[in-house]
Amino acid sequence: MKMLVTGGAGFIGANFVFYMMKEHPDYDIVCLDALTYAGNLETLEPVMSSPHFRFVKGDVADRDTVFRLFEEEKFDVVVNFAAESHVDRSIEDPGIFLRTNILGTQVLMDASIKYEVGRYHQVGTDEVYGDLPLDRPDLFFTEDTPITASSPYSASKASADLLAMAYHRTFGLPVTISRCSNNYGPYQFPEKLIPLMIANALADKELPVYGTGENVRDWLYVEDHCRAIDMILQDGVPGEVYNIGGHNERNNLEVVKTILRQVGKPESLITFVGDRKGHDLRYAIDPAKINRELGWLPTTKFDDGIKLTIDWYLDNRSWWENIISGDYQQYYKKMYGNR
Ligand code: NAD
Ligand code: TYD
Repeated sequence: MKMLVTGGAGFIGANFVFYMMKEHPDYDIVCLDALTYAGNLETLEPVMSSPHFRFVKGDVADRDTVFRLFEEEKFDVVVNFAAESHVDRSIEDPGIFLRTNILGTQVLMDASIKYEVGRYHQVGTDEVYGDLPLDRPDLFFTEDTPITASSPYSASKASADLLAMAYHRTFGLPVTISRCSNNYGPYQFPEKLIPLMIANALADKELPVYGTGENVRDWLYVEDHCRAIDMILQDGVPGEVYNIGGHNERNNLEVVKTILRQVGKPESLITFVGDRKGHDLRYAIDPAKINRELGWLPTTKFDDGIKLTIDWYLDNRSWWENIISGDYQQYYKKMYGNR
């Protein structure tokens, strides 16, 4: 089995590479990644010398690079994680989100048709369902929830999903799509809520909570996500969408307070800052379909996963301290300077 994993130097992609190499030691995995600010080759160090792994630096939207690689490797399966993934950055500069997330998906699917890939899997997000009201805890996202989008990021991911379904219907490409909730765990770039708050708390810096902190996310431990994608690749049906997540809802203030408690820092570090434009209120997944059809449910409860995550950031300080010592400082000043 030869598998292309795009975006494998990023947070979820790298965890997926590790997961697949552990669960399927006979698979050959090629990672294509442009190494943007979010990609980190150091993360992949443990697998770089494996005969079952190859890293290729390249842009998924670059047709020549992608077609050459497909010609060379003859992939059985493609899993597309490569994306611009941060909502706040998409509000600052939408263009690159459209290029990577939409055109990159198109190029990968064109190559998958030409080289007759057996399965193309698109890693999507629950943000394509818009948001749910805070006062209706009985409502959840199902695969039939209408597509809508609040940010340029979610609009670009929704476009990619629509294109993937169109390629399935029009060209018969064997596409599956997964839409997961917010992931957390090792190797997440410290621009996202959980690692940013862990890093700030450990440095006794203010913890910038947007708006009132009441916004709710449905937290999915990254290994549970990787297992779900593996199950979809094994038994998922082409043309189908699978939601991944469920039953780990927390509001942002609860998340931040949990982190502070666990690292022994005071709640006085919490600072309420200006809200995100278009800020989605609540995400919550109904995982009934993937549970019924593939037998998947999340196994890591938030209270356990957050402990594992904090321990990982404590044990791997050099990984994230390196990241936040460079360009990240500029980013932080720009995004939080006069919020
Ligand atoms: P990430 O930002 O940590 O990593 C993205 C990776 O893609 C990086 O390694 C980057 O270098 C690479 N990349 C970016 N542009 C590229 C290009 N043009 N060509 C090749 N590689 C490129 O993102 P993540 O959090 O690991 O997310 C992975 C996927 O999962 C994305 O598609 C994202 O939309 C989706 N997703 C993430 C979450 C989450 O909570 N993190 C939730 C739902 C869906
Ligand atoms: P984020 O990790 O950016 O994921 P997403 O926007 O895809 O859900 O943000 C998670 C939640 O945390 C979201 O409601 C915005 C909020 N947030 C803050 O309050 N402060 C921050 O500094 C960041 C990065 C996020």
